[in-house]
Amino acid sequence: MTSARERVRDLLTVPVRDESHGYLDVLNAPAPAESLSLRVMQNPIFAEVYERAWRPVFTRLFSFGGSATADADRALTNRLSRAGDRLILDVACGPGNYTRRFGASLRGDGVAVGLDFSTPMLGRAVLDNTGPRVVYVRGDAHAIPFADNTFDTVACLAALYLVSDPLQVIDELARVVAPGGEVAVFTTVRTGWNAAAGLPIVRRLSGFRFFGRHEITGRFAEAGLVGIEQTITGQGQFVTARKPSK
Ligand SMILES: C[S@@+](CC[C@H](N)C(=O)[O-])C[C@H]1O[C@@H](n2cnc3c(N)ncnc32)[C@H](O)[C@@H]1O
Repeated sequence: MTSARERVRDLLTVPVRDESHGYLDVLNAPAPAESLSLRVMQNPIFAEVYERAWRPVFTRLFSFGGSATADADRALTNRLSRAGDRLILDVACGPGNYTRRFGASLRGDGVAVGLDFSTPMLGRAVLDNTGPRVVYVRGDAHAIPFADNTFDTVACLAALYLVSDPLQVIDELARVVAPGGEVAVFTTVRTGWNAAAGLPIVRRLSGFRFFGRHEITGRFAEAGLVGIEQTITGQGQFVTARKPSK
């Protein structure tokens, strides 16, 4: 039987440069650290506390300390974690906090691939969030190292607001999802409350973006996705869609 790692290696469109750290590294460069947010993601201490201490608190901040964002997050990730023989890609997976769950109910040749470019985050992923159907790849979300139409499910959670070019990343999510497959995103949305945080100067300094209400859904539509659904919970939005079947 082919192992999950062999299956993923066969799917990659670029050579693996290193796998001595437990993940398949297709980059030969350090991760860009052009903003404060991206520099924080390269910090080993942040990577260590991320899953247990940071993410649950951060999620609650999206709905002003209430449970709406956490509830929507649970509903979405439960759905994405359903059983089956599927290929799942978790883009900007961080320490693999969701990748492991996505992989846990898979069957047959199903694999959940976590993609990130932070070595400290992937270091935590291979320590804390492994499984027989979970594989980690070090790569750039702006140039996902897989062919068009590969994955049944593509997720990008809590990351689009800090990547360098979020619209390009959305195009990449739409490119690699298979016909009939689903794409799911959790990110920020601009409201009256966070208008100041959306100012260009704040964005430049922090690297953190707040998207216009139709910016993400609009790009999904331009990328050819259909059945687009948006759920807004305070400062956060969950957007799901699918690629039309052939
Ligand atoms: C806040 S964490 C999100 C982790 C996880 N998806 C979650 O929902 O908790 C954001 C991640 O995005 C990653 N990231 C940012 N830009 C990236 C890029 N261009 N390519 C790959 N990963 C990127 C960072 O390294 C970091 O691990």
